[in-house]
Amino acid sequence: MFESVPMAAPDAIMGLTEAFKKDPNPDKINLTIGVYKDDSGQTPIFTSVKKAEARLLENEQTKSYLSIEGEATYGACVQSMVFGEDHEIITGNRAVTAHTPGGTGALRVAGEFLAKIRPGATLWLSQPTWPNHPGVFEAARLNVKTYPYYDPELKSLDFEAMTNALKDAGEGDIVLYHGCCHNPTGMDPNHEQWKILAQLTRDRGFTPFFDFAYQGLGTGLEEDARGLREFCTEGCEMLVASSFSKNFGLYRERTGALTLVAGSSDAAQCSLSQLKSVIRANYSNPPAHGAAIVSTVLTDPELSTEWKQEVLAMCERINAMRQQFVDKLHALGVSEDYSFLTRQKGMFSFSGLTPGQVERLRDEFGIYIVGSGRVNVASITSENIDRLCECIARVVADSEVVAD
Ligand code: LMR
Repeated sequence: MFESVPMAAPDAIMGLTEAFKKDPNPDKINLTIGVYKDDSGQTPIFTSVKKAEARLLENEQTKSYLSIEGEATYGACVQSMVFGEDHEIITGNRAVTAHTPGGTGALRVAGEFLAKIRPGATLWLSQPTWPNHPGVFEAARLNVKTYPYYDPELKSLDFEAMTNALKDAGEGDIVLYHGCCHNPTGMDPNHEQWKILAQLTRDRGFTPFFDFAYQGLGTGLEEDARGLREFCTEGCEMLVASSFSKNFGLYRERTGALTLVAGSSDAAQCSLSQLKSVIRANYSNPPAHGAAIVSTVLTDPELSTEWKQEVLAMCERINAMRQQFVDKLHALGVSEDYSFLTRQKGMFSFSGLTPGQVERLRDEFGIYIVGSGRVNVASITSENIDRLCECIARVVADSEVVAD
């Protein structure tokens, strides 16, 4: 059975971390996978999470199965975070939420569900996007197309090209937006642009699907949901894949959720029944621990306040590192203006480094960056920033000499 199985290509992001672990360079720096580090280079467990876990350990009564879609309390917490408390979508019972193993689980469940209700449907992804998106949706048997998103020359969102391309998307199609902190570019639409996108989406009649994995890491928990909420104002049906990997630091607990908004409560319930049949045939029902942490924190005013402060501190540290990164590159005399990095949001920055420069940084200096030039700013620390900037300055300067 297995003798002729060919070797699969390593994962574009996780494969680099595997290579990083094997690298003997004592000064190596890993800026690949989207994991937050504090200034001492640790990925700490949130204090609010630790407290919630202590309560769970004390109070948990059973390890019996959860229901297929998970606990209602968790679903309610997710919906409040996404739409804002007491939004009409919630009070009108037009939203249903399934607790999924991570944000990736939510994407896959949604993909399978869409393929089931609309066989051969087309799902549009931004170009570029998270390298795992095409794999997830192709595996779910959706037809994947792309829309332009980023202008590498101007280092900004190519809004005109994006909206022009989306005019080709129509009823029955699904367009995936990154709700905030676009991965990999870090470049989000501004509020006016979100409004235009919401109107375009409503007018064209396609279904928006938000990958919402970084709520709270861009500008703030509420502010980061503003774009998505414009689509609620326009009365769009929608899908939202939430993840608590980053904003609760629950990476390995695989804690996510898929929320579906329908036009009516009945349609939402029928859709939930289909989501449940997809889940049952896949992983049956979700893992409890991470969601129990999220619910415990969000339903307790004290823990919730503490958690919000922890998310804010994380967001502020990332933005401070972004600024330092730009300032240090400038101070080192790098000719290119890197100030665009401060206009990007969230964990990632599209640095503009070429594949050749990325390769040299890795092979010669042990600095690991995703091949697209995506840098995980949330893993830059006071300790590694000087060496990082010096190596980048050198590689960029050498490339200029070669180009001359
Ligand atoms: C990333 O893009 O680095 C994160 O979303 C983690 C992952 O699973 O790739």
